[in-house]
Amino acid sequence: MAIKIICVIDNAVKEQSGLLGEHGLSFWIETDHGNLLFDTGQSEAVLAHNMKMLGLHPEDVDALALSHAHYDHTGGLNSILSKNPGVALYAHTDIFQARYSLRHGKYTSIGLEEKHIEPMQKANLQLSDQPLEILPGLWMTGEITERPEPQGSSAHHFIRTPEGWQHDPYRDDISLVLKRKQGLVVICGCCHAGILNTLQHVKRVFHEPVLTIVGGTHLVGADEAYLEHVVSVFQADYAQTDFYLNHCTGDSAFQLLLSRLGSRVKSFPAGSVLEV
Ligand SMILES: [Fe+2]
Ligand SMILES: [Fe+2]
Repeated sequence: MAIKIICVIDNAVKEQSGLLGEHGLSFWIETDHGNLLFDTGQSEAVLAHNMKMLGLHPEDVDALALSHAHYDHTGGLNSILSKNPGVALYAHTDIFQARYSLRHGKYTSIGLEEKHIEPMQKANLQLSDQPLEILPGLWMTGEITERPEPQGSSAHHFIRTPEGWQHDPYRDDISLVLKRKQGLVVICGCCHAGILNTLQHVKRVFHEPVLTIVGGTHLVGADEAYLEHVVSVFQADYAQTDFYLNHCTGDSAFQLLLSRLGSRVKSFPAGSVLEV
């Protein structure tokens, strides 16, 4: 049976869909064995509005998974947890680490908010840094432990440690992997661990070809040399792969990939549906 991936929230919105856009991401993944919501966008209001417009209900979420702690992926959490308090909630073990953005000399919290902590503790919390099967055939990658390629990082992102402020190592950044007969579908949140590092990790863990990549690849802000490198790896090692890109991929990266890889590259704004 086909599995449906619906983009519930993205920075961009499909025309005439009546959905709201915001800087954030959320995917509804509908399988024969249950529904998984991957990330919750930035705000409860947008998540509630878009789910209603798409005919999706918080009570029907069988599992929630968080790609990482940032506000644009976790901000809508309570819209689900208030209606579905005992839901299984999957994330990396480092999800509760406080995270900050440094701008003009000031650190601002950009991780989970105080209001999320209690509802999350009341959920059926499943934290893991290892690959884990959430629903039959639907896995979280676990921590992307090896990162020889550039990360999808920002110079502004910090964590606070006993030794002082440090650049965020993004330990919490995970993706999802859907196993299909013909190969794998990789579903990315923000890919701070780096899209190439994530794909190498998937190769090491699952040993199957990647048919499709969906989501945010964090190529926004990437310099030309890195973008050219990504294009050459995609051309050499992912010659049959389809790309459904959104969120933090960035316009210039998207246009470059489209011009080099052609029709295998598509945008995936809120309201888009992919059957795999
Ligand atoms: Fe992020
Ligand atoms: Fe993001």
